[in-house]
Amino acid sequence: MRVIKSVLQMQKISLKHLKDGDEIGLVPTMGALHKGHASLLSKSEKDDDITIVSIFVNPIQFGPNEDYLKYPRSVKQDLEICRKNHVDYVFMPSVEDMFSKGHKTFVEVKVMQDILCGPFRPVHFRGVVTLVSKLFNISYADRAYFGMKDFQQLKIVERMAKDLNFRTKIVPCPTVRERSGLALSSRNTYLSDDEKT
Ligand code: PAF
Repeated sequence: MRVIKSVLQMQKISLKHLKDGDEIGLVPTMGALHKGHASLLSKSEKDDDITIVSIFVNPIQFGPNEDYLKYPRSVKQDLEICRKNHVDYVFMPSVEDMFSKGHKTFVEVKVMQDILCGPFRPVHFRGVVTLVSKLFNISYADRAYFGMKDFQQLKIVERMAKDLNFRTKIVPCPTVRERSGLALSSRNTYLSDDEKT
């Protein structure tokens, strides 16, 4: 398993795999990996020759009053989970490399981004979709794996991939739950045991 921190290096490596005829799987994440993520990794391991996991807490999908700075970060554990799941590349760019100075381009999926969670998180889906499009361009992925837990995100990403003619096929993956029925989520670390039941 290799950890790649440079956008350009990741893109060069992916392009080489593409030219060699390898099928590339991408699992986009913000880290704080759990069994839900592990299920996406194992699906990619089955479907693809190469699995790339991105770990990037994406600042442009957080509003000014949201938890960007507090978002759980656990790189050491994340790398262990990736290693156990036979990931080939962990892509962990810096914010400066991902969004270079003067970045001005955003991708929006009109209407779908403005309903359900949209009105409560005005920049969220635009930030997700912009980042995901960049990841598709960097990884040349054949398949990208998204949990059904974030259903609106999944549908918006599917629309974007179709509208912009990305080669990447979106693979929806079932929600993984705790025994109590609570969906696994990185933000569950904010909840006490009482709050979880
Ligand atoms: O679902 C997530 O973890 C994020 O929204 C994603 C898709 C990795 C984009 O930052």
